[in-house]
Formats: sequence, C-alpha cells, structure tokens
Amino acid sequence: MSDRYAVLGHPIGHSRSPQIHRWFAAATGQDLRYDALDAGSDVPSFLRTLVEFRAAGGLGVNVTLPYKLAALQAADGASEGARLAGAANTLKFEDGRIEARNTDGVGLVRDIETNCHVALNGRRVLLLGAGGAARGVLLPLAWAGARCIVVANRTAEKAQALASELVPHAEGTVLDGMGLDGLAGAGVFDVVINATSASLSGAALDISAGVFAADALAYDLVYGQGLTPFLRSARDAGVRHLADGTGMLVEQAADAFAWWRGVRPETATVRARLAVPLE
Ligand code: ATR
Repeated sequence: MSDRYAVLGHPIGHSRSPQIHRWFAAATGQDLRYDALDAGSDVPSFLRTLVEFRAAGGLGVNVTLPYKLAALQAADGASEGARLAGAANTLKFEDGRIEARNTDGVGLVRDIETNCHVALNGRRVLLLGAGGAARGVLLPLAWAGARCIVVANRTAEKAQALASELVPHAEGTVLDGMGLDGLAGAGVFDVVINATSASLSGAALDISAGVFAADALAYDLVYGQGLTPFLRSARDAGVRHLADGTGMLVEQAADAFAWWRGVRPETATVRARLAVPLE
C-alpha cells in the first residue's frame, strides 16, 4: 500500500496541494497517496479527522485554513518557527508523536530569493496586514536578514501589537507597526508584500504609490487570481517586478514533502504549470 498523506481544511475543494504533491511524487519516484480531506466546520471535527487519518496509517498532513492554530495545538512538539507563528501548516506522525512545522514563511523567503532573485539581506520590507497570514511570514523575513520590516495594517493597533510581540525574536531586524495611513512618511521599500485578505474580496488597498523603491518587488500572497488590485496599483506606480503567491505555495509544499520524504523536489516545473499570467 502507498504511504498516505493529506491536506485538511474547510472548505478544501479548491486546494492545489493534492495535485502539487502528486506531481512531486511522480518526479521523485516516491510511492505515496495524497488526498484532500474536509475537516468539517469546528475544531472537534478537525481533531476527529486528524485522529482517524493517523489511525488509518497516514504519515503526515498539511493543514490549511481555518485550522493552522488547532494543528499546532494538536502537536506534541513544534519548530520554533511554528511556535512563534502561532500556527502549523505541516504535521508529521513519527515514533508515536505528532511534530509540527510551519513552512509558509520559509516558502515565501525561498520564492523571493531563489525564484524572484531578490536577496532579502539588508533590505527594507513592507508587510501589509496583521492577521494570521502576516504573522506566519514575518519572522522568516527577519531571519533572512531584512534590515527593517514595517508592518502596516488598516487597524494600526494590530500592526503595532504584532511588531512589538515579535521584536524580541527578530534577530537584529528593526520591526515597526503602523496604520496604512502612516506610510506616507515611512520612506521607500525594496519588497512590498500584501498579506491582507483584501485580494480575496477584490478590494483595493489604500496605499501610497510612494512606498515602492525604484526596483521594488511587489508580492501578493494570494495565487491564481492574476493581477490583483494590489499588484495593479503597484504596476500603475511603475513597479516592474510583480509576483503572486504561486511560488510560495509550491515552495512550502516542497519543504513539507522534503521533511516527510527526505528528498526535496525541484519546483520549477510545478510553478510553471500553476502560474497564471499577471496581466
Ligand atoms: P488572514 O489569516 O488571511 O491573515 P485575518 O487574520 O482575518 O486573515 O486578517 C486579515 C487581514 O487583512 C487583516 O490585517 C485585515 O485588516 P484589519 O486588521 O484592519 O481588519 C486585512 N484586510 C482585510 N480586508 C482589507 C481591506 N479591504 N483593506 C485593508 N486591509 C484589509
């Protein structure tokens, strides 16, 4: 019987993870089965789904919205990154234990550095949003050596709270939190990341065109939506380097796959298959 893995979430129908992991398995010659499991609408139903999958011989799972916090809490042990992110997107069942990691942030960093060819070391980064998505990527951006990260959010207090909570872990990166309306005096940024959920609702973000440095990268964490309102406003501000979250999605999956299987698949083919033109 093939080794079994799954992605758990609710809803789960649109998840690309099964396809990505099947492509990885085929490319690396690994014999595994990967399913999408609807974990139901509350935490007890998520935990039941997890326990049943493990009892049936599952070796690990990815966890997506809204259960990344519950996944961390269900684990016996967790990486520092998962603990500080307050969320886990990957679990591995091993030696009678559940181990947790969060590969979202490292996936984003790898996509920015390796695929977009932008070194984060010494750069000024603007992170838009202060919810779970922003929290999940903040410290990996700092650990990649960003000189300064400004968290800017519609609700300023949430950005300030997130920045001051994580500053002790930021290893020399200057962290600051502010409202979107404070950005006018905040200088220019080399990398501007949209981690708000605005793109999912098609809403525009009220940010000044002046935040983008001349050769800035504008990165939207959502994927498969083409040119989001955020990316369009960046393009209209003259930014030539635009990326959506497809690369991050594929890289976080590759890190999960590598942790489970001990072999890291190459990602270029899968990224190309999933890419949607940004125009
Ligand atoms: P996620 O897990 O995707 O981060 P979340 O925790 O609900 O979701 O956070 C959503 C984030 O998107 C928040 O930072 C939210 O701003 P507020 O804290 O002010 O609510 C931000 N957001 C959502 N819609 C937005 C919009 N239209 N304009 C600006 N920010 C928006």
